[in-house]
Amino acid sequence: MQVNPGGRTIAAEAGVVMPVRARPHARLTGIKAQPHRCVHAGAMAYLPLLLLHLLAAIAFIGTVLVEVLFLPGVRRRLPAAVGVRLEAAFAAQARRVMPWVLLVLYTAGLGLAWHHRGALAQPLASTFGLLLSIKIALAASVFGHFLLAMAWQRRGRLSGRRSHWLHRSVLLHVLAITFLAKAMFHL
Ligand code: HEM
Repeated sequence: MQVNPGGRTIAAEAGVVMPVRARPHARLTGIKAQPHRCVHAGAMAYLPLLLLHLLAAIAFIGTVLVEVLFLPGVRRRLPAAVGVRLEAAFAAQARRVMPWVLLVLYTAGLGLAWHHRGALAQPLASTFGLLLSIKIALAASVFGHFLLAMAWQRRGRLSGRRSHWLHRSVLLHVLAITFLAKAMFHL
């Protein structure tokens, strides 16, 4: 048994080294044992993608949590005019930063998904493939929420009530996505 620099255990089996995450799912994900250098190169590409995806997910989910769970309460504790300005300033800053966070989140997600294309090609053949497919469908739905919000905003139809329900729906989506992202490796 060896441990790679990232701390993930790798097994040396007759000259074959595989990331430990790939091993239990090798049958499911289509990742096959390959000579040392190829698999190590693949694992090295996977780790930065995973880190980028995780950090962007933290930034995104954190922002949604602040918007849904904290901002309304903070606003109520402030004089009305200040609360309105605070919310508007938060929304403006989110509109500046979020496109970049989403770019990293979805691009890295696509890169990760490419490594699991074997399982994704047959989503009903394994629990892993099925849960990952549902996770990606939910992520696509989150993106749909953004497109809808932008369309409503452009037409002046993004009322406070609509924005409220969009935020709550996105929060439920990201909680389900996080659950699936972890459960797919354990169910
Ligand atoms: C709203 C968008 C998304 C959120 C909030 C999200 C969130 C997450 C989280 C929290 C993880 C667990 C990471 C870890 O444990 O280190 C994860 C893993 C993963 N995500 Fe996403 N994700 C999103 C979109 C996507 C998209 C669009 C794809 C692919 C097209 C994708 C593919 C993956 C894959 C393959 C993994 C497994 C990585 C691994 O643990 O080895 N994700 N995602």
